[in-house]
Amino acid sequence: TPAPGLGLRGPALTFRHDPFRGEADTALVHWPDALVVMRGGKITGFGDHAAERPRHPDDLVVHHHPDGLILPGFVDAHVHYPQLEMAGSFGETLLDWLRRYTFPTEARFADPAHAARVAKTFLAALLRAGTTTALVYCTVHEHSADALFAEAERLGMRIAAGKVLMDRNAPAELLDGPDHGIPATQRLIDRWHGRGRLLYAITPRFAPACSDEALCAAGRLWCDNPGTLVQTHLCETEAEIAWVRELFPAAASYLDVYRAAGLAGPGAVMGHAVHVTEGDLSGLRETGCGVAHCPSSNLFLGSGLFPAHAMAAAGVRVGLGSDVGAGTGLSTLRTLGDAYKVARLRGARLHPAQALWLATRGGAEAMRLEDRIGTLAPGMEADLVVLDPAATPELALRTEGARDPADRLFALMALGDERAVRATYLAGRLAYERK
Ligand code: GUN
Ligand code: ZN
Repeated sequence: TPAPGLGLRGPALTFRHDPFRGEADTALVHWPDALVVMRGGKITGFGDHAAERPRHPDDLVVHHHPDGLILPGFVDAHVHYPQLEMAGSFGETLLDWLRRYTFPTEARFADPAHAARVAKTFLAALLRAGTTTALVYCTVHEHSADALFAEAERLGMRIAAGKVLMDRNAPAELLDGPDHGIPATQRLIDRWHGRGRLLYAITPRFAPACSDEALCAAGRLWCDNPGTLVQTHLCETEAEIAWVRELFPAAASYLDVYRAAGLAGPGAVMGHAVHVTEGDLSGLRETGCGVAHCPSSNLFLGSGLFPAHAMAAAGVRVGLGSDVGAGTGLSTLRTLGDAYKVARLRGARLHPAQALWLATRGGAEAMRLEDRIGTLAPGMEADLVVLDPAATPELALRTEGARDPADRLFALMALGDERAVRATYLAGRLAYERK
């Protein structure tokens, strides 16, 4: 006999349309009493409980959250798992922060036991944050990716990740030339890409840490391995951009460095893209790149204010990234609170529907996974989060007085964190429940 299906009942939010394209105010659909039916890892039914329940057999086990809020699981489109232990490091901007804190921390991953321990801690923390998919940087060490993939496979999480490629401008122990990094990446692709829910992301760290030769080798590798992703950093700070101009004097722009190497295209996710020109905006759209907005990181390092609305209006696929450890935590709700503040500093308003889009469907689109994750609908993979608007007495005070469902969602983003995550489901199974 097949395993009984699992139902998730309670208030839910879905999208009527892209809140960056159409009217944000009408983009959300609120279901006061929804039923999500999950079988074989997928959503097999979704609708109003009264209408949906009779369509499913009696063996359905139902988890009822009458005071919760059911959403698609969050997508963290840019995060460094090895940097978990150095989040909150004082006083530097990007390039000095990398030298002073990041590289010494990543060097510790030469020890496979350390990598395994941090990988476990990291994925468990993602689930506590309601995050069900992430696009993850490992370190230069091949086994750092093995450690993350092995644990993600054990949990049944849809994770994309890759070992970092870099061959200059970092300590020697963290460098690997293309003659070493490319075969190591190919071995990891062969071992992990497409296995269960896992995906490989070819990971040249960023242009300043990669020779032209290394970037081109990475681009060829991407071409040879269809379906894999690419992740890298783009236009994060002014000093970094000036350095790229010095290192690649022939390139028309920072994006052009990646484009020339064959690293800009559908399935490439550029972290940050804070300081972009009109030319970059159209370049990102034309190439089909995704972008990860990392507001916590951009505020913490003082990198700049991401133009979320201009980016989305230009037709670029934008997701949300915690960018731990430059970002200060894995909580998607807190990162969305930061995204709101960044928009305010630009004189804009990030509507809660737009914020939710960034953290779910937007991230899925950036990673070209929108046919599988990021939405509550039949046929989608059953990755979900249940939020708790009354997680703390003070949050309850605010959300009980909410004007409407969008305002309740906004309060969760402005004030919430891991405490407001009641349960996380992976492929139709309960993977985390807050005690
Ligand atoms: N640019 C190159 N490497 C990094 C990194 O590890 N973090 C951030 N925020 N930016 C980078
Ligand atoms: Zn980053």
